[in-house]
Amino acid sequence: MTHNQAIGPSEAVTELHLHVVADYVEVSRLAADVVTRVVQDNPEAAITLPTGETPRGMYQELVRRIRESALDFSGVHFFSLDDYWGKGVDDETSLTAWLNEIFLRPANLDHDHVHVVPSLASDPVQEAAAYEQEIERRGGLKLAVVGLGPNGHVGFNEPGSTIDSRTRVVELTQQSQNQNAAYYDGEKRIPDKAMTMGIGTILDADLIVLIVSGTAKADILKATLEGPISADVPGSFLRTVGARLIAIVDKDAASNLS
Ligand code: PGA
Repeated sequence: MTHNQAIGPSEAVTELHLHVVADYVEVSRLAADVVTRVVQDNPEAAITLPTGETPRGMYQELVRRIRESALDFSGVHFFSLDDYWGKGVDDETSLTAWLNEIFLRPANLDHDHVHVVPSLASDPVQEAAAYEQEIERRGGLKLAVVGLGPNGHVGFNEPGSTIDSRTRVVELTQQSQNQNAAYYDGEKRIPDKAMTMGIGTILDADLIVLIVSGTAKADILKATLEGPISADVPGSFLRTVGARLIAIVDKDAASNLS
């Protein structure tokens, strides 16, 4: 298998690079290829990577490459995309704990290189601004990989989020709470608020990778890539960056695209 497969435009929707691949395994491998390339080109890159079911395969692939010494993540600065408000790494149901388990620990990232959204902040406005400043201090995000929520959210930027939104506390829709409860067999109560990087924060990244898999996402992917660019579908704002967006989707997710 080639780890550094070239990423280039295939089918163009406006100017973004859309890669329609066979299946979830291919989505994961291609996403891992992009992360690999960015980190190899810039070993001290600041990057953000998502949580959820979609990126699991990408993380497995990245961990495999790191263990085989084909990829060195030790200089990377990782910034988390989002977490539940009031939950931090010590809470096993936090997204940060999930990331730690699935990726950050196996990737052997230096503790000082892991920056988490201030989901436990006593002054969320001030600490969210400081988080944004820390991203800037690290040279800005070289890469943002994001998934797509069933309601079109990216990070936890729910419908209604504006294109210039920054890191902040947001209300979670019931749909997103139910979606995330499913990650814990529906057992654990999901808070009704979260701290998330904003749409504007994500759009500032040098490169954005959107990963989407499965027929359940076909309608929302169509709205995201082909519908109006609007706060009703926050993912649609990703199209405003043109060629800085790479969408990697499988055939099932792409089945409604024209
Ligand atoms: P999923 O979540 O990968 O679990 O579908 C995507 C998201 O909500 O961003």
